[in-house]
Amino acid sequence: MIIGIGSDIIDIRRIERSVDRFGERFLNRVFTEGERAKAESRRRSIDTYAKRFAAKEACAKALGTGIYRGVTWKQIEVVNLQGGKPTLRLTGAAAERLEELTPSTLNTLVHVTLTDDHPWAQAFVVIEAVERHLI
Ligand SMILES: CC(C)(COP(=O)(O)OP(=O)(O)OC[C@H]1O[C@@H](n2cnc3c(N)ncnc32)[C@H](O)[C@@H]1OP(=O)(O)O)[C@@H](O)C(=O)NCCC(=O)NCCS
Repeated sequence: MIIGIGSDIIDIRRIERSVDRFGERFLNRVFTEGERAKAESRRRSIDTYAKRFAAKEACAKALGTGIYRGVTWKQIEVVNLQGGKPTLRLTGAAAERLEELTPSTLNTLVHVTLTDDHPWAQAFVVIEAVERHLI
């Protein structure tokens, strides 16, 4: 059962401007250590940051909260699996909101897909509730 969907598209140059203008303050407010390490390991780190920014907004929409009501940027983290597939790890108020949305007998899977083609970066998030024994 699908219990949430969210999408976001962002102009990569907007993120670039925030990094140029606010530097460390912006990066540290929005991205986790793991996300920063991933971005800095890539040739065009700004594209990696922009896709993660879009993922956070898409997930905040799927949760129905936006980046408000105690939900903060770093509580929604993109973690790549070994082969490169992105996943979302939720903590704090974002994880609590996910719990609230989840019917008591089910578990949730949060799916995310990312893409970019300069100047655009885009993310889609689907939150699925499934029988516990299927996870
Ligand atoms: C929900 C949120 C992510 C929307 O993002 P946005 O970039 O402002 O706007 P977008 O154009 O991507 O999306 C707008 C659409 O999101 C949807 N939306 C708005 N609030 C939503 C919510 N709580 N849950 C799900 N979807 C929501 C609406 O459909 C809206 O379009 P509509 O008003 O025409 O119906 C935004 O409210 C938010 O939390 N942004 C973070 C704000 C912030 O802190 N910015 C500082 C940058 S460091």
